Amino acid sequence: MNVSESLEAAINRQIGCEFSAAHCYLSMASYFERVAYDGFAAWMHLQSNEERLHAMKFYEYLLDRGGVVQLPAIEAPRYEYGSPLEVFEASLEQENDVSKSIYSLYKLAMDEGDYATVSFLKWFIDEQVEEEKSVGDMIDKLKRAGDNPEAILLLDRYASERKPESED
Ligand code: FEO
Repeated sequence: MNVSESLEAAINRQIGCEFSAAHCYLSMASYFERVAYDGFAAWMHLQSNEERLHAMKFYEYLLDRGGVVQLPAIEAPRYEYGSPLEVFEASLEQENDVSKSIYSLYKLAMDEGDYATVSFLKWFIDEQVEEEKSVGDMIDKLKRAGDNPEAILLLDRYASERKPESED
């Protein structure tokens, strides 16, 4: 059974949303590299790669369901920030937006009785919980570090130890 036109359009929007997140994280990585926070930069590169993989999961799923991939335009991302905390707060805002977008896609799939798409989306719903938690934890740590440069450098090192997610 092919995907409906409305789900096809919504999945294409979600592909754009994931590529846009990948673009934003790459821009955040470039900010961190510019100000010599190599650990935070590594975190953002990893996150950017993961978002690209998310976009490609939607891309492949849409093709598997007989849909047409129509990549939307991506806005230029912000590249200037005042502090690591500001970057991670922007990251959390972005993840919250991605979660909302996935929830509305899930609702549409439920409303249409497209249970294959409902099942496919479950991985993303769980993934968003993980992502919001890891960014939220980093925000808490950065707030605790405040303006203490040594504490922020320790967090930079901690960020460099992040491992890529498993793809299952
Ligand atoms: Fe793929 Fe972090 O949303």
